[in-house]
Amino acid sequence: MEKQQLALIIPAAGKGERLGNQVPKPYLKIAGKSILEHTLTRFKGVSGLGEVIVSTSEEYLLQTGELLKELFPDIATHAVPGGRERQDSIKNALGKISGKTGLIAVHDAVRPFVSRNDIEKCIKQASRWGGAVLAVPAKDTIKVAGTDLEIVKTPDRNTLWQAQTPQIFWAALFREAYQYAEVNRFHGSDDASLIEKMGGKVVLVEGSAKNFKITYPLDLQIADFLIQKEG
Ligand code: C5P
Repeated sequence: MEKQQLALIIPAAGKGERLGNQVPKPYLKIAGKSILEHTLTRFKGVSGLGEVIVSTSEEYLLQTGELLKELFPDIATHAVPGGRERQDSIKNALGKISGKTGLIAVHDAVRPFVSRNDIEKCIKQASRWGGAVLAVPAKDTIKVAGTDLEIVKTPDRNTLWQAQTPQIFWAALFREAYQYAEVNRFHGSDDASLIEKMGGKVVLVEGSAKNFKITYPLDLQIADFLIQKEG
C-alpha cells in the first residue's frame, strides 16, 4: 500500500481549570520546555508526517507558530485559534489541512509520553480500518452514576477500555464525521465518538498507561518525575 501523507492536529486551547493554574496546561514548563514542546517532539520524524496544526488561545498563537517552525522546519505548520470546546478547536484546525493529506491524527497537547512505536502502530491500523485509537484496558471497575451519585450500572470491566490519543482516521471520513456532528449538534468527548455516531468503524490499538493525560496536580508531579528521569 502506498504511504499516505499524515496531518497532525494538536488541540492546545484548554484552560486547564482542573490543574488550578494561571498558565494553561500545555504551556506549563517541565525541565525548561513547555508540555506542548515535549508532546510535539514525540512526533518529530514520524513517517509520512506532512503537516502539523496546533489550535491554541489567542495569546499563545505567536509563540506556538514560532515553536512549530523551529521543531518542524521542513513541513507545513500552522497555529490557529481554538474554540469553546475541544471539538471546536479541532474543527478550526481542520480548515487548514491540505487536500494532499490522506490521514489525520489528533493528539492531546497534554500527553507528552506517547511512544513512537505506539504512534506507528496506530497509523498502521488506521490506514487499514479507517479509524484507530490508542487505548488501555480499564484497570478499575467503572460505574455509571445517576444524578444523586447512585450507581445505575456496572458494565463488565472486560469490555471496557480507556481511550487515549492519538486517534487517527482517513481524512475524508474524519471531515465527514465533523460535518455530520455539526449538522446533528453532536458533541463527543473524543474524535472516535463522532465517527461512531455516523455508524463508522474505529478500532482500538493497545497502548501504554504511560501515555496518560496531564489533568490533575498529581499528573503534573508524575510527568515532572518521568521527564527528569529520562534526562
Ligand atoms: O479538557 P481536556 O483534558 O479534555 O483537554 C484535552 C486537550 O484538548 C488538551 O490538550 C486541551 O488543551 C485541548 N482543548 C482545546 N480546546 C478546548 C478545550 C480543550 O484545544 N476548548
